[in-house]
Amino acid sequence: MLKLDRTLSALSLVLLLSACASSYAPPPQKSLYERLGEKPAIEAVVNDFIGNVTADSRINGFFARANIPRLKTLLVEQICEATGGPCKYTGRNMKDAHAGMGIQDSHFNALVEDLSKSLDKFNVPAREKNELLTALASMKGDIVAH
Ligand code: HEM
Repeated sequence: MLKLDRTLSALSLVLLLSACASSYAPPPQKSLYERLGEKPAIEAVVNDFIGNVTADSRINGFFARANIPRLKTLLVEQICEATGGPCKYTGRNMKDAHAGMGIQDSHFNALVEDLSKSLDKFNVPAREKNELLTALASMKGDIVAH
C-alpha cells in the first residue's frame, strides 16, 4: 500500500510539474506581417517608398516608363506574402521582371536606402526592419545584372 502511495505521489508531482512547464511556455511568435501592422501599414510604407524612389535621381530613370500604381500593388502583394501574410503575389518572378535593365549593386543599394527611410519614417522597429530588409536582400542575385 505504501508503495502504491509513493507511486501516486510521484505521478502527481510529474503531472504538476508538466502543468507548470506548459503554462510557462512562451506565447507563439507573431508573423512579421502581423508585427509590421498588416496590409494597411505595408501599403503606407510602399506608397512612401515609391515616392522616395521616383524622387531619387540615382535610380528614378529606371522607372520613367513604369506603371506606378501596378508596381505598388505588386510590391504590397509581394511583401505581404513574403512576411507570412494572407496575400498571393501575382507578378513576374524577380529575374524576369528585372531582366535587361542593367541594374548594378549601387542601384540596388540606393533602392534599399529609400525603403529604409520609409521604414524609419513609420517607426518600424529595428528587429522588423532588419527582417524585412534581409528577406528583400535575398532577392538581390535575381535583380542585379551579372
Ligand atoms: C529587393 C529589391 C526589389 C524588389 C523586391 C522589386 C520588386 C519588383 C516588383 C514586384 C516588380 C513588378 C514585377 C512585374 O512587373 O510583374 C518590379 C518591377 C520593376 N522593378 Fe523592381 N524590385 C527590386 C529592385 C529593383 C531595383 C534596384 C530597380 C532599379 C533601380 C528596380 C526597377 C524595377 C522596374 C523599372 C520595374 C518595372 C516597372 C514597370 O515596368 O512597370 N527594381 N520590381
